[in-house]
Amino acid sequence: MITQPFSSLVTQVFDTYWSFFPNHIAPQIHELFCQEKDNNMEENLLDVCCGSGHLGKYFLEKGFSVTGIDLSDQAIKLAKEKTKDFGSQASWIKANASDFDLNQKFTLAVSTFDSLNYLEDLNALENCFKCVYKHLLDKGFFVFDLYTAMGMKKLNNFSIDETETLTSIFRGFYDGKSEKAFLKISGFLKTNNKYYEKFEDNLTLHVFQISIVEKILRENNFKDVRYYKIGSDKLKQIEFPESLERVMICARKN
Ligand SMILES: C[S@@+](CC[C@H](N)C(=O)[O-])C[C@H]1O[C@@H](n2cnc3c(N)ncnc32)[C@H](O)[C@@H]1O
Repeated sequence: MITQPFSSLVTQVFDTYWSFFPNHIAPQIHELFCQEKDNNMEENLLDVCCGSGHLGKYFLEKGFSVTGIDLSDQAIKLAKEKTKDFGSQASWIKANASDFDLNQKFTLAVSTFDSLNYLEDLNALENCFKCVYKHLLDKGFFVFDLYTAMGMKKLNNFSIDETETLTSIFRGFYDGKSEKAFLKISGFLKTNNKYYEKFEDNLTLHVFQISIVEKILRENNFKDVRYYKIGSDKLKQIEFPESLERVMICARKN
């Protein structure tokens, strides 16, 4: 099984400079949850591929209990530091999104910032769905986003961003038709000791066809599969997910 935990420095860069996505999406997912939930539902969250805990912290502040899993040691460490004031309300565990057993059930499961595109193949995605399903309470939700093939085409690019503390370089490659896209994230980060440290992750993204993702969700007993476009302040339900670069998918247990 090939897994792709982000390296320590890339995780640090995501935590410090690229937290806009989880911070932007957290209130939108929370609002969707509030609209959809039954009154007596427990408020607990499972964050699959949680990164350094930005989204989890938002839900902790809303009163949820939060469990996050990620394969990166640095992500787990940063998430623990960020949420230490919440005590036992927060729990961060090193685990694989396609193979975990926490012996606990949740009302809401999420996976954000195209994390599931980093799973190896459809089999790994299906195993992730099975694990999430097993960890959901009846009528619980799974909300996750994926880059579509259209989004991957945008990734087929080269960009550099330079500030005093961070130089970041993105090199993406997608041929527009195969199942894999490639992304190299590299650069230099000014660390505490005032020197610049080089970082570099070579990542493979899986281009999942959304109709097949829906089929696998349904085969694994998820119901009521819906698609959403991420807005400036709320999720908007849409019909044709492949017309977006990134789609938010919501599926329900029972
Ligand atoms: C783009 S980051 C997103 C982090 C977070 N969800 C967010 O919204 O900021 C992807 C995360 O997925 C984690 N990851 C990748 N493959 C994984 C796997 N098989 N199991 C668990 N975590 C994984 C990486 O370590 C990384 O922290």
